[in-house]
Amino acid sequence: MNDAPIHLAIDAGIARLTMNRPKALNALNSALLSELASILDDLESRDDLRAVLITGEGEKAFVAGADIAEMRDKTPDEARAFASQALTTIKRLERLPVPVVALVNGFCLGGGCELALACDWAVASDNAVFGQPEVLLGVIPGFGGTQRLPRRVGPAMALDLVTTGRKIDAQEALRIGLVNQVMFQAELEQYAETLAKQLGGNGPQAVRSAKQAVHDGMDQDLDSALALETSLFALSFAGSEQSEGMSAFLEKRKPSF
Ligand code: CAA
Repeated sequence: MNDAPIHLAIDAGIARLTMNRPKALNALNSALLSELASILDDLESRDDLRAVLITGEGEKAFVAGADIAEMRDKTPDEARAFASQALTTIKRLERLPVPVVALVNGFCLGGGCELALACDWAVASDNAVFGQPEVLLGVIPGFGGTQRLPRRVGPAMALDLVTTGRKIDAQEALRIGLVNQVMFQAELEQYAETLAKQLGGNGPQAVRSAKQAVHDGMDQDLDSALALETSLFALSFAGSEQSEGMSAFLEKRKPSF
């Protein structure tokens, strides 16, 4: 692996991003966020993109937070600019048209947890540790944690986590709905391969429309969201995927998308 702050590999439309600052437990600094923005420029332009998987280099951390050394001497205006850089970049990641999945392989704290929350779902290794410990540093979450965490786990649990700063293990993260699955660390790679095959085998436009329906629908009232679903469902009959998918089922063969 080279020493870029994020390592990017793309194979068959599946992009794999590895946060690569293991000596600082992959903490998010402005250089890493700039690199993420450049990678997003590339990913956003790819029509062949099918999914994005994100993890951290090493066996100890996914991301242990925003970089405390970089933040310590910031003025309020500089802190606002840093948060703004992170929020804009993380939102672009969240809004990629394909599933974005966090493979959480260790500490997932502060800005790291906020990064995972912007992913469509997360799976965790059994040694993963989650938390929003910002109050222990005299600040609050600044990369979206006070907003995405309650939307993921409910306001009472989010308030518990952001006001106590307590850390939770992978099993508790699973119980509260912060992650979808927990597995041994050695199994994360197998999960990534299985997921790449699953998502790679599905109708690519259908997968994009399914994500769009969930994301855009969550911002709307139920009637508008159901109307959006109907439009996207109808639109899926306009391309070649629906005909191939349904014909393949009826002809008892695998579809070729
Ligand atoms: N920023 C910068 N450096 C960090 C870091 C961070 N968030 N987390 C860890 N590191 C560095 C440590 O300073 C240490 O560097 P040195 O070897 O140069 O001393 C190295 O990574 C290894 O860390 P530790 O020696 O502390 O490892 P440990 O196993 O004893 O502890 C840990 C691991 C519990 C994760 C501990 O490192 C820790 O508590 N880290 C900070 C977690 C945190 O508070 N995150 C929130 C940051 S604030 C934030 O994210 C704000 C926001 O919302 C935007």
